[in-house]
Amino acid sequence: MFYNPVRVHFASDGLSDLPGLLRGRSATLITTPGMNTRGVVESVQRACAPQRLFVYADVQPNPTIAAITIAAEAILDSEYPELLIALGGGSTIDTAKGVAAIASAGKSSKDWLSTHLRKKTPFPDDFAPPAIIAIPTTAGTGSEVTMWGTVWDEADGSKHSISHPLLFPEAALLIPELTATSPPDLTLFSALDTISHCMESIWNRGATAISDVFAVAGLKRSFSVLDGVLEKPADLGGRRILQEAALLGGFAISSNATALAHSMSYPFTSRFGMPHGLACSFTLPEVMRFNGEQAPERVRLIADTLGVAGVEDAARRLESLFLRWDVPEHVRKYVTRESATLPKESLLTPGRANNNIRPVTADDALGIINRSLS
Ligand SMILES: [Fe+2]
Repeated sequence: MFYNPVRVHFASDGLSDLPGLLRGRSATLITTPGMNTRGVVESVQRACAPQRLFVYADVQPNPTIAAITIAAEAILDSEYPELLIALGGGSTIDTAKGVAAIASAGKSSKDWLSTHLRKKTPFPDDFAPPAIIAIPTTAGTGSEVTMWGTVWDEADGSKHSISHPLLFPEAALLIPELTATSPPDLTLFSALDTISHCMESIWNRGATAISDVFAVAGLKRSFSVLDGVLEKPADLGGRRILQEAALLGGFAISSNATALAHSMSYPFTSRFGMPHGLACSFTLPEVMRFNGEQAPERVRLIADTLGVAGVEDAARRLESLFLRWDVPEHVRKYVTRESATLPKESLLTPGRANNNIRPVTADDALGIINRSLS
């Protein structure tokens, strides 16, 4: 199955497409304090004038159930918006999806999100969330074209996913200029997230002819320009290609979701504060070797994008790129093999690990982690 209803606008003139996407609907802008400080919120307000936007600019990284519930209270208290504009990285778009869900499903209970995620209560039959327009400011998450959002549980650090076909954004507006101010680490980690999405979509039980095309195209774009953008952050041509790669990675996983590398990443983010893109990528060479033993034809698709032929060559090539991008050094800032004391069961996230093309046990996962850390 492949389904994706998101209308994608590749902006050629900044925010000028935005008023046409609003179509006069009442809208709330959801964003981060940083976007406010940098004047981007003001630019969005100017682009939408004379229509007035309610602004919620308090999104924090890795949104929790409580943070999203608070955001929803603030937003839905003022007026019920027909549209949410999510301006930011993955955390902002995830927050908007959570708020949209609460706007419709949480009308009668302010604890709806926590009950839905912790106790798996279903969405109501008449679920009709406000539309979302996603304007990503990082190039990595792909959340602008997926129907789910990551929500962290403040009670135990576990990771939930809020997911419904009506949570696909209505439109994604891609403006490369908005990603050009990303600092080098954020640029790298976001691009690593894209690379992980594309690989995870390929070594995935749900891979299809369609998802493969998106994933391979996303990898080719990432590998072709990432070095150049890290060297020249203001290179807008390269930024656009990284943004396209992130979009393609998002399309690739939008129907089959991610797999083992993402499954193992979540406790590294919740326990050690490791940024998502780094956490879901440092294991990729070892996941590639693991999956390559049983599904070499899948890994060969990836090897081709790295300019090599076999599984081991692809894993080594990826390791050498990681060394060039200082990935092992970044990882050591958060955790080492000695300090990474995690219950091995926490590495297997349901809904992710079981997507992996090769069945995986907790011992398999632990072995991959130990071989990936220094
Ligand atoms: Fe990811």
